[in-house]
Amino acid sequence: MKRQVLVFDTTLRDGEQSPGVSLTPAEKLEIARQLARLRVDVIEAGFPVASSGDFDAVKAIAREVTGPVICALARANPGDVDLAGQALSGAARARIHTFIASSDVHMKFKLRKEPAEVVEAAVAAVRSARRYTPDVEFSAEDATRSNPEFLRRLFQAVLEAGATTINVPDTVGYSTPREFAGLIRHLRESVPGIENAVLSVHCHDDLGLAAANSLAAIEAGAGQVECTINGIGERAGNASLEEIVMALKVRGEALGAGTNVAADQIYRSSRLVAALTGMPVPANKAVVGANAFAHESGIHQDGVLKEPTTYEIMRPEDVGMPASRLVLGKHSGRHALRERLAALGYRLSEGELKRVFARFKETADRKKHITDADLEAIVGNEALKEPATWSLERFQVLTGNQALPTAAVSLSGEGRTVQGAACGDGPVDALLKAVENAVGVDFELREYSLKAVTGGKDALGEAVVRVERDGAVYSGRGVSTDVLEASVRAYLQAVNRWLAGTPSRPASPRGGGGDDPCGDL
Ligand code: KIV
Ligand code: ZN
Repeated sequence: MKRQVLVFDTTLRDGEQSPGVSLTPAEKLEIARQLARLRVDVIEAGFPVASSGDFDAVKAIAREVTGPVICALARANPGDVDLAGQALSGAARARIHTFIASSDVHMKFKLRKEPAEVVEAAVAAVRSARRYTPDVEFSAEDATRSNPEFLRRLFQAVLEAGATTINVPDTVGYSTPREFAGLIRHLRESVPGIENAVLSVHCHDDLGLAAANSLAAIEAGAGQVECTINGIGERAGNASLEEIVMALKVRGEALGAGTNVAADQIYRSSRLVAALTGMPVPANKAVVGANAFAHESGIHQDGVLKEPTTYEIMRPEDVGMPASRLVLGKHSGRHALRERLAALGYRLSEGELKRVFARFKETADRKKHITDADLEAIVGNEALKEPATWSLERFQVLTGNQALPTAAVSLSGEGRTVQGAACGDGPVDALLKAVENAVGVDFELREYSLKAVTGGKDALGEAVVRVERDGAVYSGRGVSTDVLEASVRAYLQAVNRWLAGTPSRPASPRGGGGDDPCGDL
């Protein structure tokens, strides 16, 4: 029997640290439910000290998602650990994951701490985490650039303090497979007590080596691998869950290990994360990209038709890629929509389905065929929408190369209708200013992006905005065949989030990140 490696998914924590990504608590809960269907062993649900939204998301996931261990991240200080413990209080199986940096460069410049103080803070954090749960993970941030002898000493100390999982992060994606495997072997041989703990690895992809490093560490005896769906995460991202799981499935004999993951849920998980984070999966992405199973060359097509294994080392159905790409149109009913959404991995409540169906019909009136990608964009934008104060009734824009762009909007909410008009540098600028005038607010536009969801002249456009007010950031996303409508919908979602007091990022971390001895988030 093959050794089973634990899969620790950090899509909702490290993945959410991807530049430009910010998920609401409802979106995080939806992803966590899918991760449970995927049968990952551990879900790192968030970093409770980072924001009240993160705290609420961890709390909701801890209360509502069963199966995997639910984990929360905490820096090695009492405030962080207490908040993580509180957020996890409803979980059937809870883990606190505490960390502190161990490399010379981090200790000297970021933490401004002596090595002995770092050991002291780590030990204290592990001890206080043990007051909340017997399942405590400790990470030595930037482990691969740390002095191996100091790492050994630090790990021995936290194991004695009660850590049950020891994590070795390649925080800046610097290591190489042989070097990383050597470090794992060295730790297994030299840290007293490590045989009673789970030895975990956490690799970043700065040099494109995250999956290779993780697999090398597994071959060297690591018992847990940390990864994210679609490999999203800080900078170039984290090791990608689907690549590691499928490598262990397809090449398990060679690698000497396997996982408990339900591989046929991989595609749905990938689609859901792409839709909710707004981070599309590149077509050539291993395992889940649109071209991962597409054969273009005639020689390959001929081979696959004669015998699929000539060019296919795994089948699309192994990862749950739907066999049919059935498209829906304006005559499709609610039942067909629900079936298609279920095949894509979405299970919506009646209320959510009603909203999605309404947008689906509206879009189908303007666009002949609704593809999977269109549906995902609509669901991502509609299904998990929080209650909105203002809804778009209509808008009008006047623009041209000789005209001053001018816009007017009419919004409804709170039992009344408000209107606003404005001129701007361009049609989008005029439209967003008109919304501000209607609502009586003034935002700083930090980010605006627009992309086509699918190809073709009638493609759906997806607009994403990020606005700032009083130091807090509010994001919004809008989808429509009309890019101006997509933009105004996105802006309105951000306005509604401001009115509801649910920022994507608060002005600064709770618990005082600024002068915290453990450094910034
Ligand atoms: O990359 C890293 O070092 C981390 C730690 C918090 C585990 O994400
Ligand atoms: Zn990381």
